[in-house]
Amino acid sequence: MELLLAIENRFSARHFKSDPVPKKVLEEMVRSAALAPSINNSQPYKFLAITNKKIINQIADVIHAKIEAIFPTTDEKEIERIKLAVDISSTFFVNAPAIILVLSQPYEAVIDKIATKINLTHDEINKIRNYPNVQSIGAAVQNLLLTAVDLDYAGCWITGLLIAREEIENLLEIKSPFTIAACIAVGKSSTEKPIKEKKSFNEIFEILE
Ligand SMILES: Cc1cc2nc3c(=O)[nH]c(=O)nc-3n(C[C@H](O)[C@H](O)[C@H](O)COP(=O)(O)O)c2cc1C
Repeated sequence: MELLLAIENRFSARHFKSDPVPKKVLEEMVRSAALAPSINNSQPYKFLAITNKKIINQIADVIHAKIEAIFPTTDEKEIERIKLAVDISSTFFVNAPAIILVLSQPYEAVIDKIATKINLTHDEINKIRNYPNVQSIGAAVQNLLLTAVDLDYAGCWITGLLIAREEIENLLEIKSPFTIAACIAVGKSSTEKPIKEKKSFNEIFEILE
């Protein structure tokens, strides 16, 4: 598929057929994620694919429990409505045949080597440079999603589940320096791409000539 067609066809899929995602497809998605640009070529990530439904369900259960702990059941309809929306958008991946957890790790940029000499910490430099590690992960995830589309699969980028990040890390024994940055649900979509309003081109583009 042409790149532009994959870009046009991509959408956030949240309903999946039960067809499994072959290991080769997951490997190809990650292989192209790793080709994305990254700060200082540091590739500050790792990808953990999970196709075991029992584990996927356990992750969702941990999230349900965390949401319940944060928003105890109340008579207030508005709170209950938001709680349900948060829960659904964070756990719908249970219907996906596969998920990929994107794990991030700290990176060292060239400028970090002289950080103490210029009286800045790694975190301050990271903030000034607008979190290049997060930007690097974003680039990799987009490659991963577009490759899924190219291979006739669909996916959805999910950060809602990070509400229970520590609990999921404990469950899966994800250890420092890695931490979960996002989750990608992957499978064959059971729904078509919906029509979704995007900002008008003029709103997002300016050119100084
Ligand atoms: C960083 C990031 C986090 C997201 N987190 C969630 C999420 O937790 N749950 C969800 O249902 N969708 C999530 N999405 C998907 C967005 O809602 C979706 O991309 C947006 O509505 C545009 O729709 P489209 O991807 O179909 O064009 C996330 C997307 C991004 C880029």
